[in-house]
Amino acid sequence: MSTKRVIHPVFRGAFALMLTLGGCAWDTPMSTVKPHSDYAREILHVYGIITWVTIGIALIVGLGLAWVLTRYRARPGSPDMPAQTRGHTLLEMAWTIGPALVLLGIAIPTIQVIFRTQAMPPPDALEVTVRGHQWWWEFQYPALQVATANELHVPVGRPVALTLEGPDVIHSFWVPRLGGKRDVVPGRLNRLTFTADTPGEFRGQCAEFCGVSHANMAMRVVVDSPDAFTRWVAAQKVESSEPPAGPAADGKAIYARSACVGCHTIRGVSTGALGPDLTTFGSRHTMAAGILPNTIDNVAAWIKNPSAIKPEAKMPALGLTDEQARAVATYLIGLK
Ligand code: CUA
Repeated sequence: MSTKRVIHPVFRGAFALMLTLGGCAWDTPMSTVKPHSDYAREILHVYGIITWVTIGIALIVGLGLAWVLTRYRARPGSPDMPAQTRGHTLLEMAWTIGPALVLLGIAIPTIQVIFRTQAMPPPDALEVTVRGHQWWWEFQYPALQVATANELHVPVGRPVALTLEGPDVIHSFWVPRLGGKRDVVPGRLNRLTFTADTPGEFRGQCAEFCGVSHANMAMRVVVDSPDAFTRWVAAQKVESSEPPAGPAADGKAIYARSACVGCHTIRGVSTGALGPDLTTFGSRHTMAAGILPNTIDNVAAWIKNPSAIKPEAKMPALGLTDEQARAVATYLIGLK
């Protein structure tokens, strides 16, 4: 006799349902159903239409099926082969026209939203160039002459016109609460325009597989009040002040004589352009493209060995001692 225990199908079904529902949440940081911009609202509008249309179809098909199964079920004395219907013109027309109408009902609002969200940005829009790198985000504000990385600041209520371009492979810019995905393609300029309507911090993620650390390519969009945004821009333009004597000053000295300066810009200190601009690094909440809180411990660990935190990170380990890495981290965290 076999001792294999069989799990009852009801329990299996309940377990599968539990797993499925476990993936659903209404109010998560990357929820698409809690829009905070005009663009995200437009997409939710289409999503709503499609959801209701689908629910309607499911009801009609489900109830129709239930009726047919009950009405025409085999009964004692039924013939083996019930009467067959072939070439019924009205039926054929109905199930050709029906789906076409459904598709039309979905296509019209979808195409309207595509055109509305691809329109030229208004002239007062804030222009930002987004560059996707393996594996971090560069944000340049050409009119303001400032640049930042991984944490995009925008003012609430003002249209933001992103121009997306990529120096290496294809990435995809996606901040679900502010709108849909838009690819960042080398050799091509894509645009994305949105107006954020709530101050706050919104999480985003690269949404196109772009190599080993694709999953480690997150970002934040910080939606500021107009005053806070003006203050943020002013802070980006100030040259960094001298750090206090001690680890921070030691860190600056190590930074200035190491390979760091070849890749990073810190206004008034270095002008490297391969890696993120670090002028106000300490004011960011996260590091390494949004994957860790921006603390001295995390930054020191990163400087010691970036690839241990982000596999195949382009930044090399610089061979610094623990103490040196901590000094550089202290200096960088002090850059507000
Ligand atoms: Cu960049 Cu995935």
